[in-house]
Amino acid sequence: MMVREWNPRTASSAEIASLLDTLNAVLAADLPQDPPWRDSSMREYLSEVMPGERRISWVAQEDDAPDGTPGAIVGHVHVLLLGGIGVLEVLVHPAVRRTGLGRDLVRVAARRVWDEGFQSIGVEVVGDTPAVAFYESLGFTRDYVETRSVLDLRTVDWPALTEMAAEVGAGYRVEFWPGGPPDELIEAYARAKAEVRDSDDVELRPSSYDPDRLRDSLATLHRRGMKPYIVLALHEQTGDVAGLTEVVVPAQHPTRADQYDTIVVLDHRGYGIDRAIKARMLLELRSAEPQLVEVQTWNAQDNESMLKVNAELGYRPDRDWCEYGVDVAELVHRLDSHR
Ligand SMILES: CC(C)(COP(=O)(O)OP(=O)(O)OC[C@H]1O[C@@H](n2cnc3c(N)ncnc32)[C@H](O)[C@@H]1OP(=O)(O)O)[C@@H](O)C(=O)NCCC(=O)NCCS
Repeated sequence: MMVREWNPRTASSAEIASLLDTLNAVLAADLPQDPPWRDSSMREYLSEVMPGERRISWVAQEDDAPDGTPGAIVGHVHVLLLGGIGVLEVLVHPAVRRTGLGRDLVRVAARRVWDEGFQSIGVEVVGDTPAVAFYESLGFTRDYVETRSVLDLRTVDWPALTEMAAEVGAGYRVEFWPGGPPDELIEAYARAKAEVRDSDDVELRPSSYDPDRLRDSLATLHRRGMKPYIVLALHEQTGDVAGLTEVVVPAQHPTRADQYDTIVVLDHRGYGIDRAIKARMLLELRSAEPQLVEVQTWNAQDNESMLKVNAELGYRPDRDWCEYGVDVAELVHRLDSHR
């Protein structure tokens, strides 16, 4: 077994395919209800980042066979270096777990984050999986918990949804923008997102609040093979974006889409916008992405109004989804003393 730095942009297709096999073995073991990933834009998914961000990756590869066949990639770690924090992701194939490989992968990544001058590392940890005990054993502590919920589109009451989509207060217009909002709406769109930045901020999945960041973020999604769909409510009198909802359909798992932000600007609450834009989104997705069977969303457990609307739409709570963090100096020290 060898751990080495690895560049997904120049890696062989066989390596990308081997990593994908490991990812799917991990999903089958830890999240058996999640759809397996496909080899569609996998290289771009692993290599493209926002301007100003850097992702550094390593793989653990088994020894080559005597006939020269390259060994399988059974472990992977990457850190995404963004404003002051390194966001970590580690995968170890279920067949080689509990041999210390996960710890070795965190060690090389943590050392690099330290060398790059970053102070903290964050990681998303899925509840009820071995990752919880793993990160806790390394001294990570839980900063934040969300609930993931999944909507099965086969259970949706489409006539009720059609009514919901129409029940928006007078003076608002609901629009659907596959691929992202048009450039003339970007400024108003960014203003709507900026308003909730303090209340709903999640450190590891930062939203983009200024128009240029927002353009970059949409372009990055496209480069990674992830198609954004936007529904927004326009306040006709002012031209303000009063509410917005974002769903992304990733080429890697196109039967299950990811709900990103949903925002209703404070002044515009109480007019049915939340329900109307989410209902409209599902109606549009049904025709734009006919292969889609599920949508998943993440919500703070105290966000009662959002949870209520999601429950009405048919979302079922799935699992806890946690953010853990650790001080890099402490982590490096702990790993060095655990050789
Ligand atoms: C979390 C993960 C990386 C651990 O990899 P690993 O190689 O098995 O971890 P290690 O062998 O280095 O374990 C280090 C320590 O973590 C703890 N640990 C790891 N797995 C554990 C488990 N299943 N139960 C209890 N403790 C565990 C132990 O303290 C272990 O030390 P020990 O074996 O000496 O007791 C691996 O399970 C994994 O890839 N999980 C999927 C992660 C993920 O990203 N999931 C999201 C998509 S599904």
